[in-house]
Amino acid sequence: MNIAIIGSGYVGLVSGACFAEMGNQVTCVDIDPVKIEKLNKGSIPIFEPGLEAMVLKNMQHKNLDFTTNLSDAISNAKLVFIAVGTPMGVDGAADLQYVLSVAKAIGVSMNKELVVVDKSTVPVGTADKVKATIQKELDKRGVQIKFHVVSNPEFLKEGAAIADFMKPDRVVIGADSATAFDLMKQVYAPFFRTHDRFITMDIRSAEMTKYAANAMLATKISFMNEIANICERVGADANQVRIGIGSDKRIGYSFIYPGVGYGGACFPKDVKALQKIAEAHGYTPTLIASVEKVNAAQKLVIAQKIVKRFGEDLTGFTFGLWGLAFKPGTDDMREAPAIDVVKELVKRGAKVKAYDPKATHEAKEFYLKGIENVVYVNSKYEVLKDAAALILLTEWKEFRSPDFEEIKAQLVAPIIFDGRNQYNAFKLEENGFEYYQIGK
Ligand SMILES: NC(=O)c1ccc[n+]([C@@H]2O[C@H](COP(=O)([O-])OP(=O)(O)OC[C@H]3O[C@@H](n4cnc5c(N)ncnc54)[C@H](O)[C@@H]3O)[C@@H](O)[C@H]2O)c1
Repeated sequence: MNIAIIGSGYVGLVSGACFAEMGNQVTCVDIDPVKIEKLNKGSIPIFEPGLEAMVLKNMQHKNLDFTTNLSDAISNAKLVFIAVGTPMGVDGAADLQYVLSVAKAIGVSMNKELVVVDKSTVPVGTADKVKATIQKELDKRGVQIKFHVVSNPEFLKEGAAIADFMKPDRVVIGADSATAFDLMKQVYAPFFRTHDRFITMDIRSAEMTKYAANAMLATKISFMNEIANICERVGADANQVRIGIGSDKRIGYSFIYPGVGYGGACFPKDVKALQKIAEAHGYTPTLIASVEKVNAAQKLVIAQKIVKRFGEDLTGFTFGLWGLAFKPGTDDMREAPAIDVVKELVKRGAKVKAYDPKATHEAKEFYLKGIENVVYVNSKYEVLKDAAALILLTEWKEFRSPDFEEIKAQLVAPIIFDGRNQYNAFKLEENGFEYYQIGK
């Protein structure tokens, strides 16, 4: 099937590569000419495990290409996916300008029946806006061309995006025509080998499903972080409590790790956007607003522990930091807790030596750009020399079983602030470390 994907970021590029991998003819479009030029030269602008090999292979097989020309890309396509960003606007609501400008461009240039799919995370009612925007352009042109608008929210996780897309838990399709449902099932059927996992519904419910899913996951994280904060104060161990409650099938083990709060491109903006959607419809979402509030405070818990240990004024102290990305497996630093932690320490006079396997460039060039007293190094042990303590913020695999003797030898004193509670099995306190965790 001929497919056009508009927006070649995390979601667009992964979707495009995976559809091409299944034998479809895919053109990925982006408004950013630098990104497209890079992609055409085989340089992948983001880090995502398995993505580069899949993109290069499908480019070589000539079933995946890249362009800035939307009109060309949709001229042969049956299905057009909109996968552009929906960032947080100034008021916290999702900013739909990119989605609607794509809808407009589709209306300006479409020349035959199309199924237009909202894959971006969009507020309830956006499909109607996309429909109206396309129709307006067709009316201006004085042409009558049939089109369908579908909501197909994406549930992939950065760091495991290819695996998630190739073996989805479910594919949610919100549509209002048999043509649209049929075409969507055709394009996704190859991803299900034993039995399909389509969930079909009306368009508004599909749009809402994405927000409800992210809000639920963010709620689990903030809930556990709140429990962890209570545990610390009452002398309980949040990690033991986690195991105690996770064993209950109704609760489950996933998303209940106490930690430094959630970040990334999705949870923060989607939780906020859902709050705004509710308020715009006259409902005050008390729980969802609190999820975000708890998370904002949680991002500073590690810094507060450091202040409690070393004092309000951190002048003269250098801290070694492992992990800048908001989670392992990605170079994405959008809303990463590391941003808050580093800024707080530096504001108090400290120096930070940081290492991340993939996100250093993002930190240097964008998210911590211009922040003085931050040095980036190329290996994890390099952050330790002369550092007053080691801080761990992202659970990359290479941090899971480090050489603790080396850590002890290099640090000024053997002190670890662990934002991910990774080292409970290593009995660090018995081995001479001061070990600070979330929720203990
Ligand atoms: N990143 C994730 O893990 C994830 C997961 C599920 C859903 N989503 C949702 O998917 C959407 C895209 O997210 P992302 O992380 O891929 O964003 P991104 O910022 O990585 O990529 C968006 C891309 O769209 C391009 N773009 C913007 N306007 C355009 C236009 N008019 N024409 C063509 N290209 C245009 C940008 O240049 C950029 O490359 C968002 O709504 C997001 O909430 C993201």
